[in-house]
Amino acid sequence: MSTPALLSLDGLTVRVPEKERIGGGIGDLTLVHDLSLSIRPGERVALVGESGSGKSITARAILQLDPHLQLSGSIDWDCRQLIGASPSALRRVRGAEISMIFQDPMTALNPVLTIGEQVAEPLLVRGVSKKEAYRRAAEMLDRLRVPQAKERLRSYPGQFSGGMRQRVVMAAALVAQPRLLIADEPTTALDVRVQEQVLDILEEQSRELNLAVLFITHDLAIVAGLAQRVAVMFRGHLVEDRPVDDLFAHPEHPYTRGLIGSVPRLDADPDVRLKTVGDYLAEGSAA
Ligand SMILES: Nc1ncnc2c1ncn2[C@@H]1O[C@H](COP(=O)(O)OP(=O)(O)O)[C@@H](O)[C@H]1O
Ligand SMILES: [Mg+2]
Repeated sequence: MSTPALLSLDGLTVRVPEKERIGGGIGDLTLVHDLSLSIRPGERVALVGESGSGKSITARAILQLDPHLQLSGSIDWDCRQLIGASPSALRRVRGAEISMIFQDPMTALNPVLTIGEQVAEPLLVRGVSKKEAYRRAAEMLDRLRVPQAKERLRSYPGQFSGGMRQRVVMAAALVAQPRLLIADEPTTALDVRVQEQVLDILEEQSRELNLAVLFITHDLAIVAGLAQRVAVMFRGHLVEDRPVDDLFAHPEHPYTRGLIGSVPRLDADPDVRLKTVGDYLAEGSAA
């Protein structure tokens, strides 16, 4: 509790101005409302919520990847204020200090560049020599348990399976030793077994490298083994932020109860219909 936060969002509000609204509508639209969340060094926090609840917008706001959105509140990164920071200050933070990976390992890699070129790139753009950059790229692939990492530097993404590609994407995200990795649904496109392997590797790297992770998912079932804390978003609001065990034992918000209740259990009666999140919300508003 005493370690100072690495990242602190304080009252973060994200708006789309009227002219940028998809689908029209009058006036500005608020996508994220007054959100406060902090992450300490090495801590793994899961940000969960149904599709459209504002998870990706929040993550992208941290790195200010969407210039058409208006941000207010505060994004404090390692004692620096990112809202209103200069483009060059933001460039220094992006990739080097905070890196981000996305859902689809198929489109994240360039098919005509080798694995080595893509994993080494974050080092090459920072002036590391080619030889050293490739050495560190192979080392990072090896850490992520890509077999024959050194030889695989010359392979192309098309020669890799989905799970291996996501490890390559992770290697490129981690090679420059960021302090925070934002992973936005990184395993959603993978099948369950491969998903587990990627999550295990991510947890292991977080421990070994003291890497903080903001892990975004709509799937509460996969966060239990990975995250220490879970933050739940619902319609642009943060509705819970609690240690993972506590959240599963005593979910407070009706939406969170719905998320937990909708996770299928092996010992459940197959003839009883699982309640949906909608059922829980209806009960919550009736109570
Ligand atoms: N320019 C825009 N105009 C209107 N709505 C938008 C715009 N950009 C994003 N949204 C809406 O913001 C909501 C949150 O999106 P997002 O953060 O991608 O959700 P999540 O990642 O939780 O699935 C979505 O409902 C999306 O349609
Ligand atoms: Mg999203």
